[in-house]
Amino acid sequence: MTIRVLVNAALLAIPIAVTLGILFGLQSHRSATGQPPLFAPEPPPIPTPKPKVPHNGITKTRYCQKSIGITPETKGQQYTLNPNQWNWNTGDPGGLCLNVTTFNNGTYATDTTAPQFMISWQYPPGPEDNPVHAFPNIQVDTDVFPATINTISKVDVDLEWSYGIGNETTEGATLAELTADNLNTNVAIDMFIDSDKKAAQDPSKAKYELMVWFAAIGPATQPIGFAQGSVSTQTLDGNKFDLYAGVNQQKQNVLTWYTDTPVEKFNGDISPLINSLFKLTATAADLPKSGDYLGYLALGSEAFSVDKTVTLYVPKLAIDIETDTSST
Ligand SMILES: *[C@@H]1O[C@H](CO)[C@@H](O)[C@H](O)[C@H]1NC(C)=O
Ligand SMILES: *[C@@H]1O[C@H](CO)[C@@H](O)[C@H](O)[C@H]1NC(C)=O
Ligand SMILES: *[C@@H]1O[C@H](CO)[C@@H](O)[C@H](O)[C@H]1NC(C)=O
Repeated sequence: MTIRVLVNAALLAIPIAVTLGILFGLQSHRSATGQPPLFAPEPPPIPTPKPKVPHNGITKTRYCQKSIGITPETKGQQYTLNPNQWNWNTGDPGGLCLNVTTFNNGTYATDTTAPQFMISWQYPPGPEDNPVHAFPNIQVDTDVFPATINTISKVDVDLEWSYGIGNETTEGATLAELTADNLNTNVAIDMFIDSDKKAAQDPSKAKYELMVWFAAIGPATQPIGFAQGSVSTQTLDGNKFDLYAGVNQQKQNVLTWYTDTPVEKFNGDISPLINSLFKLTATAADLPKSGDYLGYLALGSEAFSVDKTVTLYVPKLAIDIETDTSST
């Protein structure tokens, strides 16, 4: 037996979270429904003797479920991964698997480094008004959340990713190759904001959704409000992002910082993309206030459709969110 087997046994005991249209933070859903938290800070005592595992080994695990929260053990900041195939059911054409590489010693490159992962998927095109099948993602489980935005001193993101053609490939393809296979997807950070602490942690209830897209691949992949044109522009870590604003079907105000050139390596503080919203005047969406709460942040890929199996590979990810409590 290995640590991995024990971790899996614990995860299998968790009821599968079925999402409503968009991703439901597993943890926040449980707190919202008054259930005890899924992942206790300390694992419960194991009655059988601890199995011997190679202390410095790595473990790879593949998850092809519709939805399951995976929180690898770590000595640093926790992350929760989820295949989150919210608009796909077992038996439907296509599918998605998430492969996670964990360190048995729980010690990653830095305190905020996430386990490496890759997401392989293929879906046929869906209806034009409902084209997304899944939002596989990795959520930051920081105890900083919910944080009033005016106390957040930085949201550092150190990210490297590639999209390749093939199942579980680490080899990236060019945008031309990906669009030739009719890939429609994005690579994005998804955040939720609300004046209410609880709602800010719940993607289905928050008043504002703020996204930062590192890529938009394929003609179907457009941010809400794209047709109305960009309302603001900013350059971050040498990359130009344009802001689009609109309201989604759940009546949430959606603000998207968008790039038309894939940004496969990014290392910078994205808090200016949040703070600049407070300087904007009227847009097609309502705008959050600096005293509102940021309660949720995840990186993922909205999986629309593609002809062949493609793989999003994320060899490097570290997200460091800090608050300056003295400035309150
Ligand atoms: C933990 O395990 C990883 C993967 O085998 C290894 O690269 C790293 O050096 C180990 N860290 C420590 C502090 O033992
Ligand atoms: C994906 O995970 C499985 C174990 O579940 C492992 O055997 C396989 O090698 C992994 N694939 C890659 C490319 O790492
Ligand atoms: C990728 O390959 C693995 C191992 O053969 C398989 O279990 C999985 O279903 C494949 N994934 C996709 C999306 O085709």
